[in-house]
Amino acid sequence: MSDIIMQIQDIVKEFPLADGSTLRACNGISIDVERGETLAIVGESGCGKSTLVKTIMNMHAPTSGSVIFRGKDITKLTGEEKRQNYRHIQMVFQDPTAAFNPKMKVRDIICEPLRNFDLISKADVDAKARELLKMVDLPEDFAGRYPNNMSGGQRQRVAIARALALEPEIIVCDEATSALDVSVQDTIIELLVRLQKEKGITYLFICHDLALVHLFCHKVVVMYKGEVVERLNGDALAEAQHPYTKQLLSAVYNLER
Ligand SMILES: Nc1ncnc2c1ncn2[C@@H]1O[C@H](COP(=O)(O)OP(=O)(O)OP(=O)(O)O)[C@@H](O)[C@H]1O
Ligand SMILES: [Mg+2]
Repeated sequence: MSDIIMQIQDIVKEFPLADGSTLRACNGISIDVERGETLAIVGESGCGKSTLVKTIMNMHAPTSGSVIFRGKDITKLTGEEKRQNYRHIQMVFQDPTAAFNPKMKVRDIICEPLRNFDLISKADVDAKARELLKMVDLPEDFAGRYPNNMSGGQRQRVAIARALALEPEIIVCDEATSALDVSVQDTIIELLVRLQKEKGITYLFICHDLALVHLFCHKVVVMYKGEVVERLNGDALAEAQHPYTKQLLSAVYNLER
């Protein structure tokens, strides 16, 4: 039996434009996310992926629709309830540099979520940081480094360690590997797959690259101009019906040839 961890229900998000008109970035998106799976949301630039992510992360309110998680519509949460919700859903961004305070050492960056929820004492930060660094295959001495003094791939491992600190149920990756070169991208994907096996984490993996997601995602949802146009199993992309998905796929097969 399937175990749905999150239900995204008919999300509409409109933005008011300067000329008085509105832009409908998400036009009725519904997705059931199964526990422990990796669900990819793919689509071209501007199709509304990040807008959907921001709705899921309660960074803005939808125009209409709901996101049910742990029995509640999390788009309606406010105050302390909204803050507590972030214990269970964490995010990894495309550019972790922008999300890190450059004056903080890695040990403090990765333990910050635990500090924010009063889940760790100052004395335990060192040991916890080492444990988290180990999980993401970084040397322990990275704890004392600053994020600017490392490679993009290493920084993204720090971002993943930080996302893991609270042992969330869901990690949302919005183009988390897109800025990395291909070989580094592969090692980060391997890391995410291993962590999922170990911890049963559910991933929402937002990406514009079908060639990448078809390698490891269980489900693929294709978005086009604010709508879901196709839902596929990761191992059955060839069954795609929608012309836009077929176009994405032909690019994948051209690459593989
Ligand atoms: N705050 C905003 N105000 C107005 N329009 C916005 C806002 N945020 C996003 N948009 C518009 O909504 C549409 C969807 O943007 P979104 O960032 O969700 O796309 P995306 O699929 O994540 O693209 P990319 O792959 O480039 O990250 C775009 O046309 C964008 O310009
Ligand atoms: Mg985006």
